[in-house]
Formats: sequence, structure tokens, C-alpha cells
Amino acid sequence: MNFKTYSSEWVALVDAGIEQSLNHYRKTASQRFAPLIEAMEYSLSGGGKRFRPMLTLATAQCLGIDPQEVLPAALAVEYIHTYSLIHDDLPALDDDDTRRGKPSSHKKFGEAVAILAGDALLTEAFGLLGRLQEQKKFSPAHVLSALDLLVSAAGVRGLVGGQFIDITLEQTQFNLPEVEFIHIHKTGAMIVASVLLPARLSGLDEKNSLLLKRYGSALGLAFQISDDILDAQSSGRYARGPRKKARPAYSELMNRAEMQDLLDQLIQTAIESVEPWGDKSQALRDIAEFIRHRKY
Ligand code: FPP
Ligand code: MG
Repeated sequence: MNFKTYSSEWVALVDAGIEQSLNHYRKTASQRFAPLIEAMEYSLSGGGKRFRPMLTLATAQCLGIDPQEVLPAALAVEYIHTYSLIHDDLPALDDDDTRRGKPSSHKKFGEAVAILAGDALLTEAFGLLGRLQEQKKFSPAHVLSALDLLVSAAGVRGLVGGQFIDITLEQTQFNLPEVEFIHIHKTGAMIVASVLLPARLSGLDEKNSLLLKRYGSALGLAFQISDDILDAQSSGRYARGPRKKARPAYSELMNRAEMQDLLDQLIQTAIESVEPWGDKSQALRDIAEFIRHRKY
């Protein structure tokens, strides 16, 4: 099966999982929370690529696990990613009126509801992961280990920490180690976690987990560079409002050819890291190639 076919199947699986979880909240929560769930749904179904959940499903396949079995973990990373975008767009942070070509959450629902929709998504993400225990497929110790990984990736040692440095760093401090530090935490940590969740859930040994971690770390930085290349190409893609300062982006420090070089090196590292799995890592390698060439 080619990448286009299974990736659209996996996106459909993720979309259906999201819909099912939202319906579960609708069924089990008071009717009065419906507008909050609507705000969660607005951002969850806002046209994201589902890149992180795809990674989780692809690693599962690489490890011989049915992707369907790790779906709650894949949804959990998409929930956390979505909350981070909602909060990132708020006036106190990036102050973006639009996201993926549509009004950002706070423009559509107001700041208070946007903050709460983000809070709910973050909290429910851990609920989704915890529910893996009910399946009896993964041992409680392995589910806890996966939870621990996601906490590190999403919290002060990962996404939130990276965002903190991004927000507080002065432009005069932009240099390659600083920019890398930010992206390893802000973007990379959740990408590494997306890859490693099935490894934790299945109790994969350390040597093989390290190979997957190398894949995820290289891909995480590659993803950010490809983002900066796209950003530099199209003014307006993530257009910033008038009061916005320069971002700690690779494009502040390198020209287009240098960025492309670094991107190619990182993609190469990612691909080599998962070659030992042979055909089973085809999806992980296809995703890396997708990042090298992505147009959106
Ligand atoms: C685009 O992802 C997003 C990133 C490259 C990560 C940006 C990180 C933040 C905004 C951190 C915010 C953190 C907090 C705590 C507020 P994508 O291209 O996969 O987006 P898509 O889902 O639209 O495809
Ligand atoms: Mg932003």
C-alpha cells in the first residue's frame, strides 16, 4: 500500500477517534457544557495535518502493533498539540487572529472560552491515555511509563518550557544553539513523544527505543526547519499582526540553501535510524520524506 492510501486511512481513523471521544463527552457531560465541547471540536477539526498522531500510528506499525490499538495515544498527542495552538494564538502569547485560514479560537469564542477549551483538551489528553489500561493490551506499568513520557514532553521540560523561552527570549539573543534549544523543546519534544509512545506502551528495549528517539529528534528539528522554509516562502501563512516581534526561526540565521542542507541531513539521520526495521518502518520513512518535501 502506498503512503497516500494508508495516510488517508490513518487520518480517517484519527478523525473518527476524535469524533467518538467528543461524542463520549457529549453523552456523559451535562448539556450545559455543549458550547465548550463545540469550541474543543472547532480547533480539533480545524484542518490540521494530523502529523503527530500519524507518527504514533506509524511507530506502532513499525513495532508490529495494530495501529488501532494505540489510537488513544495518537489522539492524546493531537489533543495536546491542539490545546497548544489555541493558547499560542491568545493575545498574551502570539496574538494571532487566524489559524489554518480560519478565525483563531479566541476570535470565534472569546478569550475565556478559548482558554478553557485548551485546558479541557490538555486534561482530557491524559484521560485518553489512561484509558488504554482498560484495553488490557498494555500492562499498567507500560501505560504509566507512556504517561510519564507525555508529561515530560508536554510540560516544563518540553512544550511549555520551550514556549516559555520562545516568548521571553530577546531578539539580540538569537543564535543557532538558542534557536535549536527552543525547537527541541517547543516542537521536538511532542514529536519525539508521538514516536515513542508505542515503544513505551509495548515495553520496547532501550537500544531500539534510542533508535526511535533519534528518528523523532531528527524529524522534530527537520519539521521546524521545513516550517521556517515554508514560512519564509509565503508571507501570510502564519502572518503576524502589527505588534509582533521577530521569531527565533532558522530563517533569521541561515539562508534558504543552508536551511535545505540542514533539513536534508536531518531527514537522512531520521531515515537511517529506522532502517533496521526494514519494510515495517516504511511508513516512518515515508513520513520523513513527506517532511522533506512538504508544501503545507
Ligand atoms: C505547527 O504544527 C505547530 C508547531 C510547529 C509547533 C508550535 C508550538 C507551539 C505553538 C507551542 C505552543 C505552546 C504552548 C504551551 C502555548 P503543524 O504544522 O503540525 O500544525 P497543523 O496541526 O495545523 O498541521
Ligand atoms: Mg504562533
